[in-house]
Amino acid sequence: MGMSRRSFVIMTAGTAAAVCAGCASRNGAITPSGYSGSVAIGTTADYPHDGVYDRFIRYRFFVLRRAALFTALSAICPHRRCTVRNDPEKGFICPCHGATFDLDGRVTGGPATSGLPHLRITEATTGQLIVHPEESGSPG
Ligand code: FES
Repeated sequence: MGMSRRSFVIMTAGTAAAVCAGCASRNGAITPSGYSGSVAIGTTADYPHDGVYDRFIRYRFFVLRRAALFTALSAICPHRRCTVRNDPEKGFICPCHGATFDLDGRVTGGPATSGLPHLRITEATTGQLIVHPEESGSPG
């Protein structure tokens, strides 16, 4: 009641993102949002080249840039929660038991049986990109 269509749409999108956080095929997208919190990762200008950026690995996520598309990918291995590393050939590899993942987070080698979750990225009005690690959950 009293809910505008716009807020409904936003809530729906947020729900979809949360539900789909473990969908390895889903590409993160920058969406305008006033939501604050989580980790500010700079602006798009801080990511001048396509590729994988591990400068926020202490927060256990990677930032990927592919043209205009920015993706934040969890670095937490779904197997036993070790921190995966970027690997120039395999995409991502887990140092603990050797699971591998492609650049979309999909499992390419066990023992992990699920992919690396995509985390939601929003863009503040200042242009600051914000990653929301807590919202994705884990694929299990
Ligand atoms: Fe990553 Fe086991 S914790 S493969």
